[in-house]
Amino acid sequence: MVSLHRIGRRLGGVGVAIGLSAVAFAHAQAQRQLVMYCSVDEKWCRAMANTYQKETGVQVDMTRMSAGETYARVRAEKENPHGDIWWGGTGDPHLQAADEGVTEAYQSPMLPKLRDWAQRQAERSHNRTVGIYLGALGFGYNTEDIKKRKMTPPACWADLIKPEYKGEVQMADPNSSGTAWTMLATMVQLMGEDKGFDYLKALHKNINEYTKAGAAPALAAGQGETLVGIAFQHDVIDVAKHNKPVAVVSPCEGTGYEIGSMSLIKGAKHLDEAKQFYDWALSVPAQSIAAPNGSYQIPSNPETPVPPEAPDLSKIKLIEYDFAKYGSSATRKRLLDKWTTEVKNAPK
Ligand code: F6P
Repeated sequence: MVSLHRIGRRLGGVGVAIGLSAVAFAHAQAQRQLVMYCSVDEKWCRAMANTYQKETGVQVDMTRMSAGETYARVRAEKENPHGDIWWGGTGDPHLQAADEGVTEAYQSPMLPKLRDWAQRQAERSHNRTVGIYLGALGFGYNTEDIKKRKMTPPACWADLIKPEYKGEVQMADPNSSGTAWTMLATMVQLMGEDKGFDYLKALHKNINEYTKAGAAPALAAGQGETLVGIAFQHDVIDVAKHNKPVAVVSPCEGTGYEIGSMSLIKGAKHLDEAKQFYDWALSVPAQSIAAPNGSYQIPSNPETPVPPEAPDLSKIKLIEYDFAKYGSSATRKRLLDKWTTEVKNAPK
């Protein structure tokens, strides 16, 4: 920019005008950007980023990371934020980020139009996050392998700790994955902390791998790489839609759920673009991008059609999930430290 000014000065008035307009143009171009951290399925992330870019001309630089990973990234970049918007991923890490003040309060004009649970997510975070979809936790099992081994299909969380499932269950690591954090918090809420951890320790004996991303175990169950994969039910349904022999289970004891969320990152360098994206992401056309891209959560805008593939919530025993408690950063740190030392690092 400095050199354009100098050239302009040397060439006289016309040159200055050309130089300045070039500077203004370059400046405007530089601002038309959005750095998006995305914590849903990669395909949906790409579709959201591409559509927004096409419709607005804003250049979107998108990175897909699991919810726990994104939370860690946003915290690590606190002094010099790189991201502008964190779109998607389980709501608890968004609440934990809000709790730590690394995300920005914003009240979208779309907020009053959203479903109750989405608005409550905004209220409990003092508008530092908002609900964009809802998904129920469960697991999937490989129907062909269950049949081949003449096993009764699992129907309850309790089934997954039976000895016949040794080495046959997969779940993600709650340090990186929002899905697995939801699972950990669900067990503690269903059974109480002591019994919940006893369950997780017993389950550990049957775990073949703790994956980084939450949807990976659903995919692995569909491919016959694990008999059971703990995941959100919509992720299992997506795998089944790709003609994989996998059945989805709503555990008989009841299950937890996520309020998938979105937050503006504090200190965002492209705040206007981030707010524009935020408002758009709550609209019907933006939320309708999910289903054709294999994401079957319940959308937070009640006018967005609920995909027919979405799990029927009226048939699922959802627990009274305590989002305030399990969305606090102190609870996150304490339970993750405990899980890592007492469960993940325990011998099998
Ligand atoms: O997009 C699928 C999905 O299951 C979302 O519903 C959820 O918020 C997200 O992935 C969680 O991913 P992870 O467990 O990898 O953080």
